[in-house]
Amino acid sequence: MEVHSPGLRVYLKQLDLTDAEEFAHQINDPVIARNVSSPGNIIPYPYTKEDALFFIDALKREYASGISVSFGIRAVENNLFVGSAGIGEIDAIKKQCLIVYWLGRQHWRQSYGTETLRLLLAYGFEKLGLIKISAEVDPDNTGSIALLRSLEFEQERFDNIMRFGIKRHDYINPLKIKVDL
Ligand SMILES: CC(C)(COP(=O)(O)OP(=O)(O)OC[C@H]1O[C@@H](n2cnc3c(N)ncnc32)[C@H](O)[C@@H]1OP(=O)(O)O)[C@@H](O)C(=O)NCCC(=O)NCCS
Repeated sequence: MEVHSPGLRVYLKQLDLTDAEEFAHQINDPVIARNVSSPGNIIPYPYTKEDALFFIDALKREYASGISVSFGIRAVENNLFVGSAGIGEIDAIKKQCLIVYWLGRQHWRQSYGTETLRLLLAYGFEKLGLIKISAEVDPDNTGSIALLRSLEFEQERFDNIMRFGIKRHDYINPLKIKVDL
């Protein structure tokens, strides 16, 4: 499955075991490992292709159970694998989820993160029918906090981890992104 929208420079393609090498290459960074790790999901550093194969295989099982959907982020221009993003902890009753996202370091500050989150929001609200999308961020992760705020996520909680969320009725879609699967 792929999530596209005209005019964007990245698109999302559901993660597959064939992505393992590129996934491991891009995520193999101590800053990404620190910022993306959570108590329930520690990202190792260094990160090997075997780590990626194990992880992607587990994500495929989660997808089959309806718990998560995980994507590789690819540049439209040359199809390069630039990072990964996913909708996780899907609660089918409350219609809520937690998103996770990261880009390889050489792809930061090129608006790929903004485009990725716009695609994820459109997919989550319009295709999965979610009513709330949240993200948890380390308080030191100024880049991710600025990115979430720029997309109208609101801060909900702040202790040793910051939680941001956006509800479907507050979701504005200025680029009029239509998810083209
Ligand atoms: C967080 C991350 C996804 C941001 O992606 P990105 O493609 O660099 O973000 P964008 O280029 O779309 O930036 C959007 C805005 O967010 C803010 N921003 C992004 N990175 C920033 C940084 N390092 N410092 C300050 N502001 C930042 C800026 O306001 C930026 O707009 P501008 O470039 O016009 O000033 C990326 O830095 C990353 O992968 N980091 C490591 C993994 C991670 O932290 N994941 C999130 C876990 S919660």
